[in-house]
Amino acid sequence: MARCWPLELGFTSGEGGVRYPERMNADASPFSDGPPAPGFYAVRLSGPGAVLAPMAGYSDAPMRQLAAEQGALWTVSEMISARGLVLGGDTEKLNLGRPYAGEQGRVVQLFGAEPELLAAAVARAEAWFVPAAIDLNMGCPVPKIRGKGGACLLQTPEVAFTLIEAMRAATALDVSAKIRLGWDTDRSVEVAQGLAAAGASLITVHGRTSRQRYTGEADWDAIARVAASVDVPVVGSGDILDVETARQRQQASGVAAVMIGRGSVGNPWIFRALAGGNLEADPRPSAQARAWTALRHAQLQTQFYNDDTGRLTLRPLRKVLPKYLPDYPELHAELTQVVTVADVGRVLAPLLDSVPQGGAVQTGAMSSVSTEYAGSYS
Ligand SMILES: Cc1cc2nc3c(=O)[nH]c(=O)nc-3n(C[C@H](O)[C@H](O)[C@H](O)COP(=O)(O)O)c2cc1C
Repeated sequence: MARCWPLELGFTSGEGGVRYPERMNADASPFSDGPPAPGFYAVRLSGPGAVLAPMAGYSDAPMRQLAAEQGALWTVSEMISARGLVLGGDTEKLNLGRPYAGEQGRVVQLFGAEPELLAAAVARAEAWFVPAAIDLNMGCPVPKIRGKGGACLLQTPEVAFTLIEAMRAATALDVSAKIRLGWDTDRSVEVAQGLAAAGASLITVHGRTSRQRYTGEADWDAIARVAASVDVPVVGSGDILDVETARQRQQASGVAAVMIGRGSVGNPWIFRALAGGNLEADPRPSAQARAWTALRHAQLQTQFYNDDTGRLTLRPLRKVLPKYLPDYPELHAELTQVVTVADVGRVLAPLLDSVPQGGAVQTGAMSSVSTEYAGSYS
């Protein structure tokens, strides 16, 4: 079996001179003067809605912004290496962590396997990225992540418990964990109970084992067993592609909320329907409104990445843009070739024939896209 964790599990190794933040040593809990204030998750879970899943390569700032505008309960960043944050020369400009202007309700997800590094990474993430809470990745099955955390921790949950304890001690923010059912068999109840005992404020369960990766179907019966076995809220994840499935899964499994990943790519409206109790079978607006939102996504992309990095390309968005318009396959080839926002506007011109009516994701930034393109493409 590949080694998935450091042999040195103590808190004293100090690799790279890493030191605990001072709060690690504080005797008093930040809540010691009275009953604990409800944390971020408890506050957000008091209302209806669904959560935007962490998705490496997708849940970046522009996608999170579109989901948040549509009422996502909260959003989760792409996973960020604790080691990279602490020892790798990353700065507060790291795109994976940097919030968009005014971002709120965003959870930062960290992966790693060493308590000291994770504690230091929590402190750094809190100082740099203004997270609402911090999540530990215990689900990533990608080989290059093995040995450094992710789903590997499901083989040695006792290591994960020490990570949660260290993270909790490093911050007053809620600390959560996102697990799969197990490495190759379902150990999710045992793992979740240990995580809750270690101080996790919330546990998200993707209903597959790591070995399954993304094959088969998510096991929502297993997710329900976890939800019934711990006192902390459980969020369920896996294969929710539409509003009806979301509602049905949440009711049947008893989870506090559902998380939506692939089903929200090119479809931020799924969050609006679930937040507002508007349970139409298909909350997607007109093709015109979807085209305007695809264009706005492109504009947010260039704004977010250009500002600090000078990265002009829309390349990472090429796989996303067609998802806005599954019913227009004739546009897909060109959408996967775009280089600039103007290219996106040109390809979508047949649909962008006027300023969108209701249903489009429309804010101040939308207005500027509208102004820029309405004249050119009408
Ligand atoms: C492209 C991609 C990237 C992902 N990246 C992460 C990640 O960084 N952290 C994580 O905890 N889960 C990650 N996941 C798993 C999702 O958060 C989610 O649990 C899984 O996709 C099942 O939900 P879905 O069927 O709604 O997509 C990723 C999934 C996909 C498809």
